[in-house]
Amino acid sequence: MKILLTGGAGYIGSHTAVELDAAGFEVVIADNFSNSSPIVLERLETITGKRFPLYEIDVADKTALRRVFEENEIGAVIHFAGYKAVGESVSIPLSYYRNNIDSTLSLMEVMAEFGCKNLVFSSSATVYGNRAKLPFDEEAKTGPCTNPYGWTKLFIEQIITDYAKANGDFSSVLLRYFNPVGAHESGLIGEDPKDVPNNLMPYIARVAVGTLPFLSVYGNDYPTPDGTGVRDYIHVTDLAKGHVAAVKYVLEKKGNEIFNLGTGKGISVLEMVKAYSEACGHEVGYKIAPRRPGDIAECYANAEKAEKILGWKVELGLSEMCRDSWNWQSKNPEGYK
Ligand code: UFG
Repeated sequence: MKILLTGGAGYIGSHTAVELDAAGFEVVIADNFSNSSPIVLERLETITGKRFPLYEIDVADKTALRRVFEENEIGAVIHFAGYKAVGESVSIPLSYYRNNIDSTLSLMEVMAEFGCKNLVFSSSATVYGNRAKLPFDEEAKTGPCTNPYGWTKLFIEQIITDYAKANGDFSSVLLRYFNPVGAHESGLIGEDPKDVPNNLMPYIARVAVGTLPFLSVYGNDYPTPDGTGVRDYIHVTDLAKGHVAAVKYVLEKKGNEIFNLGTGKGISVLEMVKAYSEACGHEVGYKIAPRRPGDIAECYANAEKAEKILGWKVELGLSEMCRDSWNWQSKNPEGYK
């Protein structure tokens, strides 16, 4: 069974390719490398022994996308492709709306032309509004989102939901990721932000490897146990396995569902710094800085639904997340360059 991964050379896409292959699926990748590297395909070959078919295309380009479906019998699609930088989305909202929504519409139209009725979508915990009660479960109120990136995720969820309502034989899973971190245990693939990282773990990794001087801890006056922000960090390999479970679910035509992919456990910024310092063997330097606009104090999942219905749960903890991030970062101090 062939599974198409849009954005399959990206951070989460590449890790999912490994787990799909291990589960016996055939992987086809579509990626325009706007935020990823062709070297990923070589690394995936080293890990799996397979060169996955690659289409270097923009998913919004329907003509190019049709060729993928003409040349492969695609059983299901996992749609990872999209812009994902929260801050950037505030500066260039139209690009975010155009790119993320256009590519999804094109993809779904081409899927319909070729009779492909199974879709898994990369959504985000960012769709939960500030008013939702912790831990966030899938029934929690969504919106308003604090940035255009988040709105694109919520709008796309709505588009897929409406389409599924209108097409009874369509199966979809919306996966709401919490904070994916870590890397494949081989150290061959991992997160490779283009510029200065925005997210906590890749930032800490750069401080640990010496390419950034120290971490700015954004706020220590939140109503949390140590005053710093609390998030639900999930190992990217666990997250990838969640996608395999979701693909199986849509292929078995069980319907349309939303699942949180998180651990259910909140970790503070300072706890993360401590765990990373232990993993890399030296102190990660940090300074307390003002709060980052738009941040919330706490965000963590109720992850019971995915366990109950998909039979999926996390296997890796904070020490494995830090160990594998450090393994990747120390072996690839400049990422895929
Ligand atoms: N943080 C710092 N210093 C940094 C970076 C982050 O102290 O240099 C703190 C933040 O203030 C926050 C925590 O670390 O408390 C996590 O921040 P991230 O930027 O790593 O992650 P966010 O939770 O802000 O955002 C992430 C993804 C979004 C997604 C959201 C879903 O980046 O794409 O989770 O909840 F929408």
